[in-house]
Amino acid sequence: MPTSHAEDLTFAVDLAGQAGKLLMRSYEQVLRVDRKSKRDVVTDVDYASEGLVIDAIRARYPGDAILAEESGRHESAETGKPVAASLRARWSRRTWVIDPLDGTVNYANGIPFFCISIGLIEGGQPAVGVVLDPLRGDCYSATARGPAMLNGVRVHASEKDALGDFVVSLAIIGRGGIARERRVAHEIRISRRMGSAALGLAYVASGRFDANVQNGGLSLWDIAAAGLIAERAGAKVTDLYGGPWWNVSKRPARLSIVAAPEPHHAKLIELLRIARTTVQTRR
Ligand code: IPD
Ligand code: CA
Ligand code: CA
Repeated sequence: MPTSHAEDLTFAVDLAGQAGKLLMRSYEQVLRVDRKSKRDVVTDVDYASEGLVIDAIRARYPGDAILAEESGRHESAETGKPVAASLRARWSRRTWVIDPLDGTVNYANGIPFFCISIGLIEGGQPAVGVVLDPLRGDCYSATARGPAMLNGVRVHASEKDALGDFVVSLAIIGRGGIARERRVAHEIRISRRMGSAALGLAYVASGRFDANVQNGGLSLWDIAAAGLIAERAGAKVTDLYGGPWWNVSKRPARLSIVAAPEPHHAKLIELLRIARTTVQTRR
């Protein structure tokens, strides 16, 4: 039976706050940065934050599954629950989707733009989302049936009339990405590449960014919470081609996102298409 998710939301907000405190204790003191791949890094803080979040979910909701960036999928901790065979069956269970530190490169370099992202998926769809910027104390949140909030106050996506006035969080990755960004940038006021996909997307909810675009390189944990928050703030959120943004069948780093106010969304997709932007997985 569908619920209002009020309790889940309160739990997730509190949990993000705890993880935020953990991140702040080590901010600008990171000693060890390991390379995950050519461009991706991970710190001990990513693991510590993830451990804290997983332990808390396990204690409070032992029947729920978890998908976390660093440790992957954890099935229900309740004994006797068989692992679901199909993807669909697996995702029909309540699943928490976590990025314990989004914007790791920023964090490790002392650039103050990073966040914790906690999403809850129910019935296969995002039901609760919390994105916390612990430096500013900004907590974006939403439930599937409720409004988007910033620190408990309702927020709305941009209501600007002209795309030419838009400030867009824009990351066109892959070969030729910068040239494509330039082509799109002709039609807007300015673009920014922030280095935290979740926080950039959450900013669309309060109009700090008028729109957000990334043509790939994203995983479920990058967008689960912020995509829902942007949507509940009134933005239209899709993948690069205008299809559903929440797609559990895509492999990690294969997801893309376009979030913009409804009146300008189609034009933005069109500009990306004209610039021959396709989904890419490497930066
Ligand atoms: C990355 C950041 C980055 C985005 C990448 C993500 P991480 O997440 O959000 O802005 O461009 O696609 O993987 O590694 O900092 O959690
Ligand atoms: Ca991330
Ligand atoms: Ca991360």
